[in-house]
Amino acid sequence: MKTIVYTLAVLLIILGQYGCRSNEAGNKVTSPDQQLTIALELNDGKPFYYVTFKQDTVIYPSQLGFTFKDLPALTGDFTILSTKIAEHQLSWEQPWGENKTVQNHYQELVVCLQETSEHKRFMNLYFRAYNDGVAFRYELPEQNSLSDFVIMDELTQFDVSGNPDTWWIWADYNTYEKLYQKTSMEEASWVATPVTMKGENNVHISIHEAALTDYAGMTLKQKEKGIYEAELVPWANGDKVRGSVPMKTPWRTIQISDNAAGLVQSNLIVNLNEPSRIDDTSWIKPMKYIGIWWGMHLGTETWYPGPRHGATTENALAHIDFAAAKQIEGLVIEGWNDGWENWGAKDAFDHVTPARDFDLEKVAAYAQEKGVKLIGHHETGGDIESYEKYMEAAYKMCHDLGIHAVKTGYAGGIYPRGEHHHGQFMVRHYRKVVELAAKYEIMLDVHEPIKPTGIRRTWPNMMTREGVRGMEWNAWSDGNPPSHTVIIPFTRGLAGPTDYTPGTFDLLFANAGKREKWNADDISMTRTHTTLARQLANFVILYSPLQMASDLPKNYEGHPAFQFIADYEADCDESRVLNGEIGQYITLARRSGEEWFLGSATNEEARTLTVKLDFLAPGTSYLAQVYTDADDAHWKTNPQAYVIEEDEVTSETVLILKLAAGGGQAIRFVRK
Ligand code: NOJ
Ligand code: CA
Repeated sequence: MKTIVYTLAVLLIILGQYGCRSNEAGNKVTSPDQQLTIALELNDGKPFYYVTFKQDTVIYPSQLGFTFKDLPALTGDFTILSTKIAEHQLSWEQPWGENKTVQNHYQELVVCLQETSEHKRFMNLYFRAYNDGVAFRYELPEQNSLSDFVIMDELTQFDVSGNPDTWWIWADYNTYEKLYQKTSMEEASWVATPVTMKGENNVHISIHEAALTDYAGMTLKQKEKGIYEAELVPWANGDKVRGSVPMKTPWRTIQISDNAAGLVQSNLIVNLNEPSRIDDTSWIKPMKYIGIWWGMHLGTETWYPGPRHGATTENALAHIDFAAAKQIEGLVIEGWNDGWENWGAKDAFDHVTPARDFDLEKVAAYAQEKGVKLIGHHETGGDIESYEKYMEAAYKMCHDLGIHAVKTGYAGGIYPRGEHHHGQFMVRHYRKVVELAAKYEIMLDVHEPIKPTGIRRTWPNMMTREGVRGMEWNAWSDGNPPSHTVIIPFTRGLAGPTDYTPGTFDLLFANAGKREKWNADDISMTRTHTTLARQLANFVILYSPLQMASDLPKNYEGHPAFQFIADYEADCDESRVLNGEIGQYITLARRSGEEWFLGSATNEEARTLTVKLDFLAPGTSYLAQVYTDADDAHWKTNPQAYVIEEDEVTSETVLILKLAAGGGQAIRFVRK
């Protein structure tokens, strides 16, 4: 079956002229709704772009260009050879996603530039204006005056208007597992993307990148206050990007809306990626999963064999039984293979040999018999040299065992030493993994990944990834405050699916048993920092097509609130963001077939939200199964208190959602 079905005819209005030969169609493009503009201007031959939204300038003229190793910089002295403008409108279908049908409507400006200096090099710039944001990218086309090059600096700037409130994490070349801060932009001096801001007139913007396929990851640094400049993650020797013509950079993206919910509703990042390269996507299916996992993070089990080994054959069979009985489609088993004793060392992991007390064939056969999908686990410890030797055999083995999903992990410094998780070296590796996995019909859940940039459109087996300070931090550190998961949808979540792994029921770890500290953090004060109902809401809020119910089966067994997880469908058709303020609250509704699931969450403050159910089919009665905080619930003092209620509702109903401090509410709507 073809993965991309164009449901609307392609409307292509050529207003300018093709090629780099003739002349000017203008220097700016405007979004279809006329609200957003992105434009180019040359000042003394130097290219600058700027962005306006409604009456406001969002980005003041900001420079573009590159410096190279052993070559003159490409910064100016340009002349415009030609410009062309075209409008594109189509909609496309994806095999899974927040919205299965995606509208893709934009105006594009292509500007062909040539240096007037002796070098006479060519550079093309692409600008796009959508209703939900703008984007631009560079192209270094085929030419005689440039062939191979090493970019030492991308000079792209974002001269952001004013000094907006900014939600950000520190730039780090190896991890995104950090808590967000909210400061003024000027204090957010060096950040990872997406970075999200709210300025005057409620202008919300989020800067990120799309289609990062063979380039370095971009961080943003203020070398001058108020102006972010691209700071690319280097190779071990300091090179930033190695390439040759023709080359297109990733898109530099700015999602823009006059409300926070509008940012979350945006499809800009996927729209800027290439259509699917996988023709038959019938093997790619969203699912919920559980794991032999949380016990290791709590310190009650180990990844390596011994008296506390989690991944024993017996334990795996019991988990399969639990999943089969409880409408959970998938199971990840960490610690199934050889090498965990040496995690961190060179050549530690063997990705094809099971641990001595784990009978892989028996477990795989039993899973198939019970209709449970195993998710393989490949922790690489960051040892790329070793993993690349195993990869093909390991994926083939999974395929032969009927395993169609693998969770990978890169917890550790990269081998070869000196390379970074977010540099071009690793971008190439992650890409190799996605393509090879597709060959063996394997879906991916990548931990310690490069940030999502929408390549899931091109490779829909790239299901989900971490790249966030997820649930595991609650097990062994000071954890994630209640506000964390009402910041993520407006920041990291704008980039793509997040394998946060919600679903702790034993919030205080009272039922954990004897725990042993296994890393440098202090386990004595650990807990999960929300109410129980909020854990359910997080299933809806934190979108992931592979959605984990992360607690131990013993904490779900017989628990009335588990019914929401059993009923929850990971395969979503459409999503509506009903309200939201960054770091304060958010309410989302997602449709799966004829059912809707609603999740609403708040930060440390209790609040009451009003939502219209006008997303439900008109003229139809629904049963609302409501999982809500009890009146006396509080994330800190009474997290476990929840209530389950049932109600009859229609699309005319207005619901009042009462959320406790650090709390939430989850609702399933089923047609009556
Ligand atoms: C870090 C991952 O995020 C986590 O999910 C996993 O359990 C450990 N690495 C071990 O692979
Ligand atoms: Ca991690």
